[in-house]
Amino acid sequence: MKKLNFGVVGYGCRGSSLTKNILLNMEDVAVAAVCDAYADRTEKAMNDVEAKSGRRPFGTTDYTVLLAQGGLDAVLVSAAWEMHVEIATEALKKGIPVALEVGGAYSIDSLWEMVRTQERTGTPLMMMENCCFGRQELLATSLVRHGLLGEIVHCHGCYGHFLGDEIAGGIKNRHYRLRNYLRRNCDNYPTHELGPIAKVLNINRGNQMLSLVSVASRSAGMAEYLRAHAEEYPELAGMEFRQGDIVNTLITCADGATISLRLDTTLPRSYAREFTVRGTRGMYEQNCNMVYLAGEPETFNTQRFYRENMGNAEKYEKDYLPPVWSRMTPEQIRAGHGGIDSIEFRAFADALRAGAEMPIDVYDAAAWMSISALSAASIAAGGAPQAVPDFTGGRWVMREPRDVTEIG
Ligand SMILES: NC(=O)c1ccc[n+]([C@@H]2O[C@H](COP(=O)([O-])OP(=O)(O)OC[C@H]3O[C@@H](n4cnc5c(N)ncnc54)[C@H](O)[C@@H]3O)[C@@H](O)[C@H]2O)c1
Repeated sequence: MKKLNFGVVGYGCRGSSLTKNILLNMEDVAVAAVCDAYADRTEKAMNDVEAKSGRRPFGTTDYTVLLAQGGLDAVLVSAAWEMHVEIATEALKKGIPVALEVGGAYSIDSLWEMVRTQERTGTPLMMMENCCFGRQELLATSLVRHGLLGEIVHCHGCYGHFLGDEIAGGIKNRHYRLRNYLRRNCDNYPTHELGPIAKVLNINRGNQMLSLVSVASRSAGMAEYLRAHAEEYPELAGMEFRQGDIVNTLITCADGATISLRLDTTLPRSYAREFTVRGTRGMYEQNCNMVYLAGEPETFNTQRFYRENMGNAEKYEKDYLPPVWSRMTPEQIRAGHGGIDSIEFRAFADALRAGAEMPIDVYDAAAWMSISALSAASIAAGGAPQAVPDFTGGRWVMREPRDVTEIG
């Protein structure tokens, strides 16, 4: 089988990990070209790829030069958030299929350009939202599809990840989060939690996000973190962060369902995505990996039984866990984020070879990424509602559901 020649743009933490642990471990993939804005990272990328594959890739610090190289079958965009949409759009213009890492958008206009370019060129784009393929997310989605939870009325998710060291280390590590937390105030990273929810609710395929309101708390967490770590980060002394510690966003959908999202990254906490699905016949709750169905014994609905039934979702796996998870090898599970990175890149490569629709397409990417720009506008206007653009141009009404539970 001819290998798919990938280009990689952005060789920081994520780009290097995906290149070494995922792309170069796929039998039908080669890494033919690499690019990072920093010359030392480009050089490292060339060395890493050569060491692992025996083939030295083309390297450049200018992504337009990489895209101008002939012979690329796909490009992975794992650069800083600010450049994602621009790089993806330029790749689409050149007819190069795009695997687009996650991150929020800065302007709605840029998303329209990406969508229009995709439509004009017909070049595939997949948003690489790995959490859509999570074991728990896919189990809950499968429970919904089998009708166990009834009509879905509300979903909740959170990006709960204390990032004090990553943000504060931004100068030393040349990382984009620092400048974003200093200058913006929005839900800057909505897709890990929104992606699986949007799939449950068939957003862009029979349903649509209509509007949102966002409210941000004050910013105090980073100031406290820097007081406690003043010796490690003298270069940040006196800097003030605009990003609120907690950003709550409420989204209303065309079918009347609501979504609540929370960005929660600068106060001390443990990691959680809080994926929660609430229906007329039951609920799924990720924090406790718990399923509760109407008709369960009444005593279940007490605090004691709640504690005792934590983790009970596992008993539903035998009948409802989508097959892609039962075929996972231990190597794939170890390769990245417990297996979800392998699943998503396999899904991308398979769809590309088959000429099939991408499981997370340009309309999903644009709608999900728009939440960052819209939440910024809502917060700036005191929580004023913002309309979510319909990037499908009305086709969401007719588009058939296409489920991530069918992957693999
Ligand atoms: N899906 C996941 O689980 C996951 C996990 C981590 C990061 N990410 C995403 O991956 C992306 C990268 O994150 P990271 O933590 O690796 O950041 P990073 O700062 O470590 O790496 C980003 C790299 O992109 C490079 N870059 C920026 N602009 C560029 C340009 N115009 N041309 C070429 N290179 C450019 C930077 O020099 C840097 O080396 C982000 O979008 C992030 O949201 C996803």
